[in-house]
Amino acid sequence: MTRLEAINNRISPNDIVLDVGCDTALLGGLLAKRGIHNYASDIKENIVKNAYEKACSEKTDKYITFIVSDGLDNVKLEEIDTLVFAGMGTYTILKILDRTDKKFKKIITISNNNHDILRINMNNLGYSIKEEEIIKENGKYYNLIEFKIGNAKYTREEVLLGKNHQNVELLIEKNNYLLTKYKDFYDKSESIKELVDVIKNYKYN
Ligand SMILES: C[S@@+](CC[C@H](N)C(=O)[O-])C[C@H]1O[C@@H](n2cnc3c(N)ncnc32)[C@H](O)[C@@H]1O
Repeated sequence: MTRLEAINNRISPNDIVLDVGCDTALLGGLLAKRGIHNYASDIKENIVKNAYEKACSEKTDKYITFIVSDGLDNVKLEEIDTLVFAGMGTYTILKILDRTDKKFKKIITISNNNHDILRINMNNLGYSIKEEEIIKENGKYYNLIEFKIGNAKYTREEVLLGKNHQNVELLIEKNNYLLTKYKDFYDKSESIKELVDVIKNYKYN
């Protein structure tokens, strides 16, 4: 399963989705094929123009509303209840969410980095983890995190490795990959030491 298919599987027909940083609007296309109207935005005008032209040629344009926007700046927020941030960094995602008071019922992220910082700061913004899923696409591991409204108290283990993992097989595979990757760096960094210790003591259900 690809990253965008995994996100698509988490969208219900009644969700009103904005895909922030849509690039070629692949997700919008998948939603359109299900007959789900959705919004797709990007900070770059030429990217939105190209995505719109592609949607026209695939006849999915009537399902997708395209917006040029830095984060949520030009978005009619009253029309949206679900946000997707895929392929963006944690600090970009947090900066965008920090600029709005609106609370979204569902936020799905596949951040490029710093998932521990994302988990902590989403909690500070009023969102807790509903479920997580590791995805492997083209040999690379990705962390999908679905957030819901509410706060949670996380253990250090949950901050570092996540919570409510739905694909434990791939979580084990990713953790084993990290253990091999960090094998020679255990004594060279406190954060690597902590992560390796947490992985070694992790109880998979
Ligand atoms: C790596 S692409 C990811 C595309 C797609 N979401 C995916 O996962 O395949 C990141 C996209 O985010 C857009 N982007 C970066 N910062 C943004 C911001 N502040 N607001 C909206 N879009 C942004 C970029 O222009 C780029 O198209």
